[in-house]
Amino acid sequence: MNADASLSAAASPSPIRESIRVALLGLGTVGRGVFRMLEENSASIRAKAGLPVELVRIGVRDLGRVRGIEFPHLTDDARSIVQDPDIDVVIELIGGIDQALDLVERALEAGKSVVTANKELIAKHGGRLLRMAFERGIDLHFEAAVGGGIPLVQPLKHQLAGNDVVRLMGILNGTTNYILTQIAERGVSFEEALSHAQAFGFAEADPTNDVEAYDAAYKIAILGSIAFGGPIPVEQVYREGIQGVQPDDVHFADVLGYAIKLVAICEPGAGGRSVSARVHPLLVPKEHPLAGVRNEYNALWFQGDFVGDVMFSGRGAGAEATASAVVGDLIDVARNLKIKGPGSVIPWGDPIEVEPIGLARSSYYLRLLVDDRPKVLGEIALALGEHGVSLSAMEMRVFDSANHVGEIVFLTHEVEERLFQRALADLEQLMVVKKVCNWLRVVEK
Ligand code: HSE
Repeated sequence: MNADASLSAAASPSPIRESIRVALLGLGTVGRGVFRMLEENSASIRAKAGLPVELVRIGVRDLGRVRGIEFPHLTDDARSIVQDPDIDVVIELIGGIDQALDLVERALEAGKSVVTANKELIAKHGGRLLRMAFERGIDLHFEAAVGGGIPLVQPLKHQLAGNDVVRLMGILNGTTNYILTQIAERGVSFEEALSHAQAFGFAEADPTNDVEAYDAAYKIAILGSIAFGGPIPVEQVYREGIQGVQPDDVHFADVLGYAIKLVAICEPGAGGRSVSARVHPLLVPKEHPLAGVRNEYNALWFQGDFVGDVMFSGRGAGAEATASAVVGDLIDVARNLKIKGPGSVIPWGDPIEVEPIGLARSSYYLRLLVDDRPKVLGEIALALGEHGVSLSAMEMRVFDSANHVGEIVFLTHEVEERLFQRALADLEQLMVVKKVCNWLRVVEK
């Protein structure tokens, strides 16, 4: 600090803040969790923040639907909250885009720091919102948007930032992980497992987002944007859900020593500043750290050039786990406001290009119904080999002995996806192949 600056700072000391005043937007599952945590842990939150953190207003959509919360300052006028000069921090837990984007923008414009759990908002508009916060010297934190209670955003932004990222691999959706675990371990149907997930409160009201992997795509876009230092356009993330995984695939994967997981991956692409960013079902060897992540648990397996392999895991959804991340962010903002700091937002750089899925390299699992006759295996191996697809394992069972139909499962060595697709197209033309039942990507052992 130069002499003039130190003199002027000494001449006009800023008033000491007595508390941080917080407003909550949304009182759904996570909102209630945050409300309860702020009440039940208020003493330790105050001690860690260094000053009281007071919840002063809550915005809800429908005042008539608020049950079981004793709070005098509820309103259905959310805009009045983001314009209220007495509020320092807005916690956005509405979800979706329309209303949430409008309110977050207004809050930032009004100079309020924002904490949000909204993955869609950050995946689609994070780059712009972070810049808004950065230019105003305020905070925008979103730890709860990815992995529920597991700290992922902050470690990627800070402790792991010195690494060149080799690969991110995550189980980032609790609902689908729960469904796949229940099918594998208890033999229940997809529908039964989904309705349990909804009853436990970690499946979204509309399961499409989870099952068709939109949720995991938002999350890997966010983590990849932080890890690779530029916004990854979420609409370019390759996305396949678990709706095509059949109980027979789960069975064969198990026999071959694999678990099927919905895995989100982000890794450097072949060219320049591009990445491969994708979410799809994946056969993971049972000895891989991600294979043991069960039920609604989430995990991120981070590989960095210096740190090596780091695994994070924990509850990726639910009121309490998500509240833990929201309140952690809030304490961070409060500490910063206490010292009148400039905010710790790091704007993302230029957008990063996502490579087409055809360039990704993987091993494959392939399940076919075939003629159960001599020379059939040779014909199939030849068709695959023409495109450089090499086999590494095989399992077979008689499917229909009267009609000489066998069910056969192959695993391949690693190959570029576009070559595998060409081989698949040729296989479909073979007379001996009755049906291509399914194919999935595999992490080679
Ligand atoms: N529905 C999500 C999941 C939780 O199942 O993981 C919120 O991100």
